[in-house]
Amino acid sequence: MKLAVVGKGGVGKTSITGTLARQLGREGYKTLAIDVDPSMNLAYSLGISSNIASKITPLSENHSLIAERTGVTPGSSGGVFSLNPTVNDIAEKYGIAGPDGIRLLVMGTVRAAGAGCMCPTNSLAKALVRHLMVSAKEAVVMDMEAGLEHLGRGTVRGVDAMLCVVEPRMQSIDTARRIKDLSKELGVKSLLIVGNKMKNNSEHVFLKKVSAELRIPLLATIPYDESIEQADMARVAPIDFAPDSPVVSAIESLKSSLIMKFPST
Ligand SMILES: Nc1ncnc2c1ncn2[C@@H]1O[C@H](COP(=O)(O)OP(=O)(O)O)[C@@H](O)[C@H]1O
Ligand SMILES: [Mg+2]
Repeated sequence: MKLAVVGKGGVGKTSITGTLARQLGREGYKTLAIDVDPSMNLAYSLGISSNIASKITPLSENHSLIAERTGVTPGSSGGVFSLNPTVNDIAEKYGIAGPDGIRLLVMGTVRAAGAGCMCPTNSLAKALVRHLMVSAKEAVVMDMEAGLEHLGRGTVRGVDAMLCVVEPRMQSIDTARRIKDLSKELGVKSLLIVGNKMKNNSEHVFLKKVSAELRIPLLATIPYDESIEQADMARVAPIDFAPDSPVVSAIESLKSSLIMKFPST
């Protein structure tokens, strides 16, 4: 199962990705979480200690790795480099071990692709998203940046589903609309809405209407719960800080729906 979590900044992507990855780990999935957001805070939401998290070198700054895989050192101009670097050993070699058997890869800042950007960092990032092989009982969960423009066409074609997190607020819904257009362009197979920070039934009704209008299925909703904000302030993973939170159980149900939708062969 290969998932990408997208949506406007602040909607809850990192909290959901981290919690979902931990729960997949507990379910026995060999789980790799990839932080593709330049703000790089997935480690905390996974429960990797700040001591370790603060020392992580993102792949985008690992120039020797990029040079080894693409044939070109970032920053150098010209040169012919491999557009399809091998990536399948990268999780083992550069992934950081976290709780529940999960691993974390931190991408760092990947420059916006623009029209045909050919920088080697971008090439390695794309290859990672696109070519990481996922076998039975394996999961890759990616915490993406709001804009997907840096990925480029075809990159996320291999993703089973893109989870678009929205709050019942117009701004995040406008972002979802843009993501829908972009996901078509990028060749995403399945785009699904996850409603987050839901406070009452009228917000449920609202989101159902929005999902119907946008023609993006509503996969799950997650309630608003203050303890998730407290977890964030304490820099502790939601699943460790508030294991009994209704948010954690809603993500558990989301996990079960995903497993049903994309059964492990
Ligand atoms: N269901 C929720 N209930 C309450 N607060 C939440 C919920 N989900 C996320 N948050 C809070 O919202 C803020 C943004 O969440 P975050 O996961 O960092 O979003 P993103 O990665 O999309 O920018 C954080 O303070 C987080 O604790
Ligand atoms: Mg985030």
